[in-house]
Amino acid sequence: MQILGVVGSARNPTRSGVYRLVAAVLENSGVDYELVHLRDKTISGCIACLGCVKDNICKVDDDLAALREKIVAADAYVIGAPNYYSTLNVLTHAFLERWFQFRHQEGDTLWGKLGVAVGVGGTQGRFPADAIETFLSYNFIETVAKVTGQGAASCFTCGYGETCRVGIPVMTYGEGVKISDDMIPDVTQQPAVMQAAVKAGRLLGQRLNEGHDRGQVTAAMQKMMMAMMAHSA
Ligand SMILES: Cc1cc2nc3c(=O)[nH]c(=O)nc-3n(C[C@H](O)[C@H](O)[C@H](O)COP(=O)(O)O)c2cc1C
Repeated sequence: MQILGVVGSARNPTRSGVYRLVAAVLENSGVDYELVHLRDKTISGCIACLGCVKDNICKVDDDLAALREKIVAADAYVIGAPNYYSTLNVLTHAFLERWFQFRHQEGDTLWGKLGVAVGVGGTQGRFPADAIETFLSYNFIETVAKVTGQGAASCFTCGYGETCRVGIPVMTYGEGVKISDDMIPDVTQQPAVMQAAVKAGRLLGQRLNEGHDRGQVTAAMQKMMMAMMAHSA
């Protein structure tokens, strides 16, 4: 496995926009990959116990322990999350928080690796993709591409979508809307989004096949992070 793909959606893959985009990126990379779904896992957020500071190994006993080896083994990551309240959903947030374990005593296990960030929202996929990029940069992992799309908000199928005035169908199409299947957003029907996924996959595969220089990526990421820290309040 060269790339670890991570689907942070809580939905069954048959209904998940995140899954469709993460899969498209992976399939177009041309390299070996493994895909994990966080919806099957029980993973808590970081509890700040600092049990990992001596050896960079998290001591919380849950499903992240088994994923740690895969995270370490991969050269790159394709991580996708849905937009919940304009940020990452908690499944993906908890998963990425736990990468804190790799950061102590200049632990360089993940430094210089590559990533693609995928975000899908009922209206806006950019927020989770940006958040994933930020998480990755704390381990000096370069996000080579971000792919964002519009997924199927539950309001289209909850049963009240045609009348609920705070739901996406009424807010998008106005009162009196009649919901039809073709109105329900599907990333695979968004040509620019699918093209971005194909392009991201190819770019990631190309960077990996070129044998990217992890030292160089690390140096660039460190410089970028230092500049960011210098400008924070
Ligand atoms: C609790 C919850 C909060 C959500 N908040 C937002 C939001 O703030 N902005 C948005 O664009 N979509 C929001 N959505 C819609 C999801 O992002 C959307 O359904 C997306 O398609 C989910 O991706 P998935 O199909 O891969 O699970 C929310 C959905 C849920 C369940």
